[in-house]
Amino acid sequence: MPGCESVREPMRLRVGVAEDLPFVMATERLPGHERLTAQWSLEAHRQALAQDDTRYLLAHRPRDGEVGFVILQPVADRHEGTKLKRICVNPPGQGLGALVLRALMDWVFVTLPTDRLWLDVFTHNERARRAYRRAGFTEDGLLRAAYRLPDGATADRVIMSVLRSEWSA
Ligand SMILES: CC(C)(COP(=O)(O)OP(=O)(O)OC[C@H]1O[C@@H](n2cnc3c(N)ncnc32)[C@H](O)[C@@H]1OP(=O)(O)O)[C@@H](O)C(=O)NCCC(=O)NCCS
Repeated sequence: MPGCESVREPMRLRVGVAEDLPFVMATERLPGHERLTAQWSLEAHRQALAQDDTRYLLAHRPRDGEVGFVILQPVADRHEGTKLKRICVNPPGQGLGALVLRALMDWVFVTLPTDRLWLDVFTHNERARRAYRRAGFTEDGLLRAAYRLPDGATADRVIMSVLRSEWSA
């Protein structure tokens, strides 16, 4: 597990493969994550991984190994751009997310023919919203009562995006 002293090490992203799915599933199932992000079955992950419009990226650093993952889906929609479907880091709340988001924005705008990277996040996920804002995302709008949480409650979601022109500025 990474320590604070290694937060300055460069974050690298590599395209994920089937062998990464145990790490992905364990990370999205960390305690407390069930109210913050969806948790897919192995079969759902396998199906997503096999789709042309989906990309898994593993965040890693030489000293720590894997520290998080990102799912992009769709990878590059002609109209809406690239959706950051899911991001999880381990451990959260220690600055890793900021590093992964910075590396992700570079990867997306250098690698993909997309002008927009976007996501939706629960309004109650204040930690993620702060990380996205800090990375340069703007809040575009609100989807009210637009998700059913595992405990049956409904949650609001905020749409956030960053444009290629903002990334390159
Ligand atoms: C979302 C996530 C990737 C962000 O990564 P992270 O490493 O936790 O984020 P960082 O530490 O870089 O930044 C978090 C920000 O929230 C703040 N923060 C930390 N804990 C917090 C908390 N419990 N409540 C509110 N804000 C908090 C930090 O101070 C920081 O703000 P700042 O940049 O203004 O100082 C990570 O928290 C995670 O994996 N969460 C679980 C899954 C999830 O929520 N995914 C997103 C679904 S849309």
